[in-house]
Amino acid sequence: MDIAVIGAGYVGLTTAACLAELGHKVACADSDMAKLQLLRNGHMPFFEPYLDGIVRRNHAAGRLEFVTTEEAVGYRVIFICVGTPPLENGEADLSSVDSVARTVARRADGYRLVIEKSTVPVQTGHQLQKHLELYSTNHLQCEVASNPEFLREGSAVEDFFHPDRIVVGVDSAMAAAQVQEIYEPILKHAFECPVHGLTCDRRRTVPIIVTDVNSAELIKHASNSFLAMKISFINLVADLCEAAGGDIAKVAEGIGWDRRIGHAFLRPGIGFGGSCFPKDLQAFVRVAGKFGCDFSLFEEVERVNARRVDLFMQKITKELWVLRGKTVGVWGLAYKPDTDDVRCAPALEMIRRLLAGGARIQAYDPQAMDKARVQLPDVTYCRDPYEAAESASAILALTEWEEFHSINWERVRGLVQRPLIFDARNMFSREKLTSGGFQYVGIGVASDVKVLEAVGSIA
Ligand code: UDX
Ligand code: UDX
Repeated sequence: MDIAVIGAGYVGLTTAACLAELGHKVACADSDMAKLQLLRNGHMPFFEPYLDGIVRRNHAAGRLEFVTTEEAVGYRVIFICVGTPPLENGEADLSSVDSVARTVARRADGYRLVIEKSTVPVQTGHQLQKHLELYSTNHLQCEVASNPEFLREGSAVEDFFHPDRIVVGVDSAMAAAQVQEIYEPILKHAFECPVHGLTCDRRRTVPIIVTDVNSAELIKHASNSFLAMKISFINLVADLCEAAGGDIAKVAEGIGWDRRIGHAFLRPGIGFGGSCFPKDLQAFVRVAGKFGCDFSLFEEVERVNARRVDLFMQKITKELWVLRGKTVGVWGLAYKPDTDDVRCAPALEMIRRLLAGGARIQAYDPQAMDKARVQLPDVTYCRDPYEAAESASAILALTEWEEFHSINWERVRGLVQRPLIFDARNMFSREKLTSGGFQYVGIGVASDVKVLEAVGSIA
């Protein structure tokens, strides 16, 4: 099929390139002309595993081209993948979606299937339909569908080709059939997997859930809010482990074996970040409020998440005493591994507070340093984790990059001023580090002293 994808961000570019990989002819548009030019010249605007090769291959084969939004509206099928960031009051800012809709309405003629992939609040599809008709000048005959994305940054390509499900919200059987046709190769597993190649063993039936547009929009917000709730839940349990005695890793394992709960998304840490969970939770709460529904449960999820950095900072200041003049090594800046994205990254918030306290920061991240530098110019960015450790009074491990699992601890021991590790993602072995001469502070494990204190206070 001939398909246009509007918005060449993390979601849009991944969608466009992967649809081309499936054999469709795709025009990917963006309002940012510099980004468009970069892509036309064969460069990537961000890091996402496997995406570079897929973009290059399909661009060279003529299946993927980079066009202006005005050119994209000439296509019969149009995916909207522009950003939907939060407004100051937490509602989703739909001005980019609206702007694309008005361009389609003004310029397109004949039939168009407009598919919203950006995360939007319930009833956005209906508003889109109405406004496409209101602004139409050329006998536009338009249908709106919702096909939410479930692409995790860092594994977006894998998630595209091996989705847990495909959700399609439509108002007509014709729209449903068209969206189904787009994904036919995935539903039938009739493609060569660009992630696992010929050895791909993830061939299985992918469920397709066809619903009305409102329900599809709700599925997306509800999924992300549920996952965020799981993270805040495990973070609270980690607090109790620390206070009363317990090991969060064991507790999470024990909970997760219950098939109704599962092991995924029970990793404690310094909270969820990124461009989705924080904004989607807020938008879900706001839209529910508009309809008179009390979603304070999710406000609490947000509140718990916001406190994670505070609590971790308390541990740091308790150990380091005075921050002013101390050097702190930071490993990891991205909001999660395998991405260069620092939007709402807890690591950046942590660094801001350390800098405000007068600490000197030496940071290293395998991918996110360029993006972090724009927000935090006063940090010293290092070539590797060892350079970041030099003369440090403490090392903070804030993003669980694979690379950090092969750290040479003996070398680090020789570089630091004080062998103190704050592990904000519980990625290292407490036993190994302690026996290697480090003081280790992780998440969700009580120190012996604390256990004694807690037992004493109960008695
Ligand atoms: C965004 C949303 O944040 C997410 O919730 C949604 O599900 C998908 O879209 P992401 O792809 O990460 O996610 O956003 P971003 O990387 O900011 O990309 C958005 C792109 O849209 C940018 O390249 C921007 O230039 C482009 N854009 C924006 C347009 O092409 N036209 C516009 O009118 C506005
Ligand atoms: C999310 C959704 O998972 C995905 O389906 C799509 O809707 C886009 O938004 P993404 O934000 O890229 O994906 O990453 P995800 O893996 O969901 O992690 C989000 C945040 O939660 C990260 O900051 C991560 O570090 C944190 N997290 C995740 C935890 O703190 N603990 C966990 O157990 C899992």
